[in-house]
Amino acid sequence: MATIFSGVKPTGFPTLGNYLGALKHFVTYQEEHDCYFCVVNQHAITVPQDKLELRANSKKLAALYLAIGIDPDKSTLFIQSEVPAHTKMAWIMQCISYMGELERMTQFKDKSENRVAVSAGLLTYPPLMAADILLYGTNIVPVGEDQKQHLELTRNLAERFNKQYNDIFTIPEVHIPKVGARIMDLGNPNKKMSKSDENVNGYISLLDDEKTIMKKVKRATTDSDMTVKYDKENKPGVSNLLTIYSLCSGKTIEELEQLYEDKGYGEFKNDVAEAIISELKPIQERYETLLNSEDELDEILDRGAEKANFVANKMLAKAERAMGLERKRKKK
Ligand code: AMP
Ligand code: TRP
Repeated sequence: MATIFSGVKPTGFPTLGNYLGALKHFVTYQEEHDCYFCVVNQHAITVPQDKLELRANSKKLAALYLAIGIDPDKSTLFIQSEVPAHTKMAWIMQCISYMGELERMTQFKDKSENRVAVSAGLLTYPPLMAADILLYGTNIVPVGEDQKQHLELTRNLAERFNKQYNDIFTIPEVHIPKVGARIMDLGNPNKKMSKSDENVNGYISLLDDEKTIMKKVKRATTDSDMTVKYDKENKPGVSNLLTIYSLCSGKTIEELEQLYEDKGYGEFKNDVAEAIISELKPIQERYETLLNSEDELDEILDRGAEKANFVANKMLAKAERAMGLERKRKKK
């Protein structure tokens, strides 16, 4: 049985990109593996957040995890800030990280670009992520493509620690889906779909209603070529819609290309939207019910934090011992 860990930031509401690149796959691991799914609220505060929104978004994300099918009897669902070992381990990870390697992270470069004030937390975001993962002896981390570099750093930090102090950390593997690892913006298919995008038409929120989904897909940028073919270089918009359609319908991209061989973009887009709607509808219904059962949600998160604290504290103690951070006691 392998250990699986993944996290999502409670900033805004997850998009179809988060779902197809990461969330949708989480469920597939829980039958046979020991899974930890985390609401990484401490990663969220690396950029300013509204207090009330952050608090509400953390609960909403927990409800969404359950709505997509995470079963709290099989997986451990918890909020990062409720397990203090994460920030303690993050400090250890920061102390074995080099400034140069943190400054080279593309997410740091993108997020710090054009900002007047860049928080130190934005730079030390990846060591906290490494701490999240390494505390649980994680074997596999399912994420979207944008997290690949952070996972590479996590592996390097684990190896560095193991070599310098004691061989205690498992070296985690990254799992990136073959299709859908990078869902693109609907308006500008050359950049990734993101919930922090200013243009709301560029992304589909998992809570968007039928009309909104239809409208956004119909407005999606395509091209003047009018053939439904997968060609990422020359037809990024159509290729992105084909990827989304394939993942929501279970049909392969080749099957879809054949199906729309002599059909126009109008019909194609209509069917893409229908497929998204039928994928999201049951999730949205379960989500609404769960959000209204606060006691149950709190009880699940309490249980999750308890289990996570138990496991994480053991690994933290090992790491502290390996570095000489524990107190030597006189033998009695
Ligand atoms: P975040 O919202 O940044 O915490 O991301 C949560 C998960 O969604 C991570 O595994 C990301 O790699 C994944 N993800 C975010 N945006 C996309 C996207 N446009 N396409 C595919 N996966 C994504
Ligand atoms: N950095 C990830 C993202 O932006 C979220 C995250 C934090 C994460 N800790 C993690 C993902 C640990 C996987 C494992 O998407």
